[in-house]
This record gives sequence, C-alpha cells and structure tokens, in this order.
Amino acid sequence: MTTKILIPYYSAYGHIYQMAQAVAEGASRVEDTEVKLVRVKEFGEVKDAMSSQEYYVKAQEMQSDIPEATHDDLRWADGIIWGIPTRYGSMPAQMKQYLDSAGGLWMNGELEGKATAVFTSTGSVHGGQEATALTSFVPFMHFGLIYVGLPYGENPEQLTAEANGGSPYSASTIAGPQGGEQPKEVDLVMAGRLGERVAKISKALKPLR
Ligand SMILES: Cc1cc2nc3c(=O)[nH]c(=O)nc-3n(C[C@H](O)[C@H](O)[C@H](O)COP(=O)(O)O)c2cc1C
Repeated sequence: MTTKILIPYYSAYGHIYQMAQAVAEGASRVEDTEVKLVRVKEFGEVKDAMSSQEYYVKAQEMQSDIPEATHDDLRWADGIIWGIPTRYGSMPAQMKQYLDSAGGLWMNGELEGKATAVFTSTGSVHGGQEATALTSFVPFMHFGLIYVGLPYGENPEQLTAEANGGSPYSASTIAGPQGGEQPKEVDLVMAGRLGERVAKISKALKPLR
C-alpha cells in the first residue's frame, strides 16, 4: 500500500524550498512512498510589500509550479512534514492561517495519528530555530499529530560547535542575516534523513489508524 507524504511549506526567499526538496528526496527513498510538495498561500499584503525585492521575486518564480496547499492535501496525507521559516522566533502568519482555517479537520480528528515533523530556517544562528520547532509542536498536538524529531544517533552531525542546522526538534538551516547563505550539505543531508524517518514511521502507523 502506498504511503503518502505531504510537505506543506512557506518560503519567501527559497531556503525552505531547497530544504523541502531534500526532505522530499529522503522520503522517496522509502519504498512505495508518494511525496507531494505544496506551498502555503502567500498574503497579498506581503506580496505587495516584497515585490520590489529581487530575491523574493526570484524565489517565488522558482516555486511557481508548486501547487497551493489545500485542506484536502492534509486529509490525503499519511504523514506531514512542515517547512516553517522563523518569523520573530515562531511560525509565519501564512502557516498559522493555514492551520487556523483547518478547524474542521481538528474537530473531526482527521489528522489524528499521522506522523509529523518540522524543518525550519532562521536568518541568524540564535534567531529561533528551536523556538520555532517547539512552538509549532503546540498546535500539532491539538491536531493529534505524532511528532517525529531528529535523533542524534542518526544525525551525529548535530554534535558540533559549528553554525550548522539541525537540532533534536527539527532539521534546519541558517539563511544569513541578509538571506545570502545557502543550506549547507550537512543541513540537506539531515533534512533528507528526516524525510526518510517520517516516511518509515508513517508507513508503520498507517495500518494502526
Ligand atoms: C518578518 C520577518 C521576521 C523574521 N524573524 C526572524 C527571527 O526572529 N529570527 C531569525 O533568525 N530570522 C528571522 N527572519 C529571517 C527569516 O527567518 C529568513 O528570511 C528565513 O528563514 C529564510 O527562509 P526562506 O528563504 O525560505 O524564506 C525574519 C524574516 C522576516 C521577513
């Protein structure tokens, strides 16, 4: 039986989009897995405000063939891996809007028992990667999702004093204060392993739901 993995993400400047592709590649390593990338709807106000920024415009063009996330995508999925860049240490309003408008799914328990995980990105090293993952955990528990972390055993690269991504709570990357950094190879590797882990766990949980 096919296991369906959904990757809903929001990416203004493309870093989370790159991480999403690595997560997707990792998930697809698991046999009989179908992976779908969807982007969370942008706000008109943000589009207007950012349309003079070259990086924003380019990153949006790059993602133009990715479909917009719907609630039916969440119903479809056996496992959900969220791409959530930091905004003031927690999730962007665009992502919150997607969750807040999914009250019907919450009420009917439609996401209960599905595996879930987070990958994130910040401008700076201490700008809130762990805070973003941990605060996202709160609504995900209301939906009854089963949170999957990024264990040290599988991801020994986390044990470092270097400014890399990755924590026990999520895969991650550092975009740089001006967004000029790119995800490091090690960040992409850990993102891939997270995708694979969620796909494996989703497959195991599917018959139990
Ligand atoms: C309104 C706003 C708030 C932000 N807040 C933070 C923050 O609290 N900490 C931080 O390190 N970066 C912050 N950033 C930087 C973003 O996290 C960074 O641009 C993002 O992770 C890059 O991912 P993307 O290229 O996929 O958009 C903020 C950016 C914006 C636009």
